[in-house]
Amino acid sequence: MWKPDRSIKQPIYQQITDYMEHRISFGEFPPGSVLPSERKLADLLGVNRSTIVQAYEELRASGLVESAKGSGTRVSMHKWGITPKQTPNWKQYAEGGTFLPNLPFIRRIREELRNRESIIDFASGELSPDLFPNAIIRDLLQNKPFQEHLGYEDPQGFSPLRSSLVSFLEQHLHIHATDSSILITSGSQQSLFLITQCLLSPGDAVAIEDPSYCYSLPMFQSAGLRLFRLPVDEHGINPEDILTLYRRHRIRMIFVNPNFQNPTGSTLTLERRVRLLEIASELGVPIVEDDPFTLTALDGNPPPTLKSLDTTGNVLYIGSLSKIAASGLRIGWLIAPQAVVSRLTDARQQMDFGLSSIPQWVATQFIEEGHFENQIIKLREALLEKRNEMIRGLQQLIQENVSFTPPQGGLNMWCKINGSVDDFKLLDEAIKKGVIFVPGSVYGSDHGYIRLCFARPQLDEIMPGLNLLKEALQLPCLVRSSRIPAAFT
Ligand SMILES: Cc1ncc(COP(=O)(O)O)c(C=O)c1O
Repeated sequence: MWKPDRSIKQPIYQQITDYMEHRISFGEFPPGSVLPSERKLADLLGVNRSTIVQAYEELRASGLVESAKGSGTRVSMHKWGITPKQTPNWKQYAEGGTFLPNLPFIRRIREELRNRESIIDFASGELSPDLFPNAIIRDLLQNKPFQEHLGYEDPQGFSPLRSSLVSFLEQHLHIHATDSSILITSGSQQSLFLITQCLLSPGDAVAIEDPSYCYSLPMFQSAGLRLFRLPVDEHGINPEDILTLYRRHRIRMIFVNPNFQNPTGSTLTLERRVRLLEIASELGVPIVEDDPFTLTALDGNPPPTLKSLDTTGNVLYIGSLSKIAASGLRIGWLIAPQAVVSRLTDARQQMDFGLSSIPQWVATQFIEEGHFENQIIKLREALLEKRNEMIRGLQQLIQENVSFTPPQGGLNMWCKINGSVDDFKLLDEAIKKGVIFVPGSVYGSDHGYIRLCFARPQLDEIMPGLNLLKEALQLPCLVRSSRIPAAFT
């Protein structure tokens, strides 16, 4: 983000005037569009509001912008000889298309995180930067010559990576796969996208866990799917609920995250797993096993995956390196029958011609040279320490306010707020104090829960973050209203 240069002679308000003039003339703010409020721009650029007032005054004096009471500062319609008729209605275009925007609270969280570096982040469901294998990847890039061709890669995925994954999956998860049953995707997110877009049709009924990561993804609604809930308790979903849903709605697919579920952290018992597979095969309904967390098992004993127990070919398995190595590599995989892999590969070719060979090559070296084993040992130790610190903090600081079950893996602590507290109001207050989390209702229907990620903050930020949360929780203004985000009504 551009910032005014305090070391040069030109006054700061003037630099800001020039900067905004540039953005307007390049069409970033077309005629008629609203400029950021004075307060927001002052925050973004780290200057006093009066400096922005002065800069906007200059722009107004040159006729480039206009202000009207109550509607902010807008780019003038008549400057540069541009008339409104010639200007596309960008707002209308931006609201078009079939892809729904992210939930307002997800956008709000993203914006706060982008603009306030100092905020303590319990919201992002990822590892802290020191847990990524940066040093290993730096060494790989320095010492290992990259000699692959740089043409379009096979849209099914870089063949050496698929071969490495065959042994990786066998060794770590007891999953039998072949090169041709694996599709490399840009993270698990893309597998979910491809499945919802290519294997299902608008109007299809699907069963998803409640609460579930899937509710935070408008991608399911964009695909026109009808979502039905499978309540999750501390042992995961109850498979018998699937029978009821099937009878009523003829569900076409079941989405589950059986190990260290996001957001609850719960793990499906072996008995329920076996029954789930039995029911799915009786009904002939596929299960999508979304499995980013199994290898984070804090005791080093990962629970079995559904895929490793599946003898009838009902499970589409989705994994990724995001939560066990680095989310920025964007390396994910889908294991599926041939017909499905070739349909999704074809779609992939239409979408983006497949993933760049560079991260796929990096991931191959990372796995082939045995770095993953060290990474996962270090990661588990660090996650255990952070989880324990969060438990300690919650017990010491806000024991009367929250109840929780310590997760045995994954990255998140799912907390029930005792009493009648509006989780969205709590988020507002917490942000003001300098800490951020995800309100539980983003993941489904229930109010009064919050998801705290213990992996993203540094160890020494966890206590201070919980202290700020405690202060927010003590505010008298948090009584619950009936506001429910639009996606869940
Ligand atoms: C359950 C679950 N599935 C899928 C994803 C997507 O992860 P990625 O695309 O980074 O692999 C996430 C990310 O938080 C997740 O929690």
